[in-house]
Amino acid sequence: MNETTTPTADLQPCAPESIAAAVACLRAGGVVAVPTETVYGLGADARNAEAVRRVFAIKGRPADHPLIVHVAGAEQAADWAVVSPLARQLMARFWPGPLTLVLPARGDVPRVVTGGQDSVALRAPSHPLAQALLRAFGGGLAAPSANRFGAVSPTEAQHVRDSLGDAVDRILDGGPCRFGVESTIVSLLGERPRILRPGALPAAALREVLGADGIDCDGASPAPRVPGALAAHYAPATPLEIVDTVALPERAAALRQQGLRVCVLCLDHPGRSAPLAADEFFLPAQPEGYAHGLYARLRALDAMGYDRLLVEAPPAAESWWAVNDRLARAAAGSAPPVFD
Ligand code: TXA
Ligand code: MG
Repeated sequence: MNETTTPTADLQPCAPESIAAAVACLRAGGVVAVPTETVYGLGADARNAEAVRRVFAIKGRPADHPLIVHVAGAEQAADWAVVSPLARQLMARFWPGPLTLVLPARGDVPRVVTGGQDSVALRAPSHPLAQALLRAFGGGLAAPSANRFGAVSPTEAQHVRDSLGDAVDRILDGGPCRFGVESTIVSLLGERPRILRPGALPAAALREVLGADGIDCDGASPAPRVPGALAAHYAPATPLEIVDTVALPERAAALRQQGLRVCVLCLDHPGRSAPLAADEFFLPAQPEGYAHGLYARLRALDAMGYDRLLVEAPPAAESWWAVNDRLARAAAGSAPPVFD
């Protein structure tokens, strides 16, 4: 089962033969890379413990780090979790979309999926190919991001091919992911909803539903295991430093003087007048555009063999939370580089 579906076949949205082949592969215990609106996922039948173990093995992920179960919609949530009225409300408002909810797991959810915990993370992705696959499959797909543990998530099918290659049975190519950063994870296990991982759904959107004081936004909780909360989780291979705008030229010059090949990733402020210097790259100066391009840019820069990547610090505003979170982890993981 090592064939890879061709991009051209799968670029037609929801090409029925691709979906049917992917469903057959999943039913046979296979592993399929699936585009979502956030990042590509590495999916297996969440009821098939053996298939789920293969996902852990392909990623090189420790067995106690739980996976998200992807479902087509809120109708399937009760197959996996105890669904409170609040959970229903959030699903009704944000599903399908980039919101993952951590809920009490039903007793029959394989504990290999939950990393041994009694809670389960659920999400209904909105990408048309993910929706078509989940509806045709009918069950839940345990799917982490389709990268090796510790590396940046794939936002294009080619990224999955590059890093996982033949280890994956099939790759559905749904084009570049719309958001480019992972889903927002909200735990509903405590007294108040709590954001465990900032992501593509802004905290402000959750507050609109839950009220200004209705959600804890103070970062990852120490209690549940969230590998995204490990300091060095989203690491590119090139050592990365986050530097304030004013300090950037001096820092770049100092490193270059040491003989290092340095590249700089800047915010593309509208009206920025400076011409593009050699080894200077830009991402949009607004959080959605920046997030959309970030992982692909980090991959491309990694391939260029620089000794050091200096990233101009984005604003500290909450709308940049997910981007700043991933950049901080990348920086923590890359001095020295971490490949776990
Ligand atoms: O956007 C996304 O969420 C992507 C796409 C593929 O859906 N998936 C993704 O999966 O980022 P992964 O495995 O790379 O990250 C899932 C996060 C992990 O940090 C994991 O620990 C957390 O979800 N998680 C899963 N089950 C959990 C649970 N029961 N309690 C707390 N955190 C949980
Ligand atoms: Mg991941």
